[in-house]
Amino acid sequence: MEDIIILIGFMGSGKSSVGRVLARKLGYKLVDSDKYIEKQEGKSINDIFKEYGEQSFRDMETEFLKSLLTSDEKIILSTGGGMPCHNNNAVLLKEIGFSVYLAASPSVIYERVKYDTGRPLLKVDDKLGKITSLLAERENYYKESADRVIDTDNLGVNEIADEIIRLLKGEAN
Ligand code: S3P
Repeated sequence: MEDIIILIGFMGSGKSSVGRVLARKLGYKLVDSDKYIEKQEGKSINDIFKEYGEQSFRDMETEFLKSLLTSDEKIILSTGGGMPCHNNNAVLLKEIGFSVYLAASPSVIYERVKYDTGRPLLKVDDKLGKITSLLAERENYYKESADRVIDTDNLGVNEIADEIIRLLKGEAN
């Protein structure tokens, strides 16, 4: 099985919660890129965006990804939702491991994030509109970065984790 399994997808697509379950089931270490960057900077994602701007955050994501090129650990990597769409990170993701795109539709994403205040890009009046347009912009990046796609709209966290394990074992298409 691949040493680094990468979960990509829009905000609220379940990367962190699926990552937690998958890491437990496979005995891999869970690494969450947002948490890693927040810890390294000693600041929340909101404050990083506010104080340094989005591009600086994107550069931090790229530096973090590069650090994984030489890792020899078994890792489930839960990525930030914009990671595959900036700085040519898609190329790095391909080099680093096996990527699964957790696809979800705008209405499902909206239901999951509607009360969230920790995501700077969703601090807007029309959250659903923003989710719909940003997802449309990003969809191709996600698909191009992914080795496999799972439609998560009607699946629970456990089911998604089990499906990923089946994919990894080559039992599903
Ligand atoms: C972002 C997604 C967030 C976080 C930041 C930017 C994005 O991560 O990296 O707020 O551009 O989609 P989650 O996908 O874990 O919410």
